[in-house]
Amino acid sequence: MAPRHFLTLTDLTPDELKALIGRAMELKREHRAGHDNRSCQGRVLGMIFEKASTRTRVSFEAGMAQLGGSAIFLSPNDTQLGRGEPIEDTARVLSRMLDIVMIRTFGHDKIERFARYADVPVINALTDSFHPCQLLADIQTYVEHRGDMRGITVAWVGDGNNMTHSYINAAAMLDFELRIACPEGYEPDRALMARHGDRITLTRSPAEAVSDAHLVVTDTWASMGQEENKQERLQAFAGYQVDHDLMAGARSDALFMHCLPAYRGMEVSDALIEDEARSVVWDEAENRLHAQKALLEFLLTGTH
Ligand code: CP
Ligand code: NVA
Repeated sequence: MAPRHFLTLTDLTPDELKALIGRAMELKREHRAGHDNRSCQGRVLGMIFEKASTRTRVSFEAGMAQLGGSAIFLSPNDTQLGRGEPIEDTARVLSRMLDIVMIRTFGHDKIERFARYADVPVINALTDSFHPCQLLADIQTYVEHRGDMRGITVAWVGDGNNMTHSYINAAAMLDFELRIACPEGYEPDRALMARHGDRITLTRSPAEAVSDAHLVVTDTWASMGQEENKQERLQAFAGYQVDHDLMAGARSDALFMHCLPAYRGMEVSDALIEDEARSVVWDEAENRLHAQKALLEFLLTGTH
């Protein structure tokens, strides 16, 4: 039987997504209570990183250890992947040795090719196009703080990037309104927006996007791989910083999220990210651990 993969959020059904978030919250409580969970005993996760990471690497490695399994970090610098061994060959070889593989890479087509040739589940740990694991954590964080996302308004302010694309998928699956504010030339993928036109609005005005929003989200203005035109980007994004002034237009109980790493003084003000009445970024980062443990259990044992 072909394995289940998690390349985008839409590899889950909306019901599976909701159940997975519930399981993540349960795993968090159990972990804090000191329960010993061995659901992935003897299982091995391979972690291929072609881009840098703090949260993703640590949460997957710690998560696997907490479930009784283990993880192997694989960088292109010291594997044959970096010397040109085809993805298709690597996928088939690793499938013979590992139980599950996680990949952070550039083009989304690369992870799709890997998954096509893999006999074990493949998890997208960020591509240029999507970052679905981060959405699991963001959804869990919103649900923990405020409850169901159905019918709420989420404002995305900044670059139309991999995180925005995953928010678009989440809006469709969980039935919330997504307002995206971005400068001209930095819009999310047209086809994806067109597919979900009923849930998404695009504006040039951050104030319009955050008006009465329940949740305001931003991300770096220059994602990994876009460092070259950073100066041009800084100019294009002037006026898109999320700060207390902008948040004043959102609901009085609106939350602020950022997947991190954050660049204070650029996409977010220092005062806002440090304001614990608004900013839930540390919970959001912690929830990477719990949400991905739920994902690993789901893909490895078929439970959620
Ligand atoms: N948010 C996120 O994916 O962080 P890392 O790049 O540190 O993994
Ligand atoms: N959009 C960012 C997210 C980092 C976690 C990037 O791709 O670099």
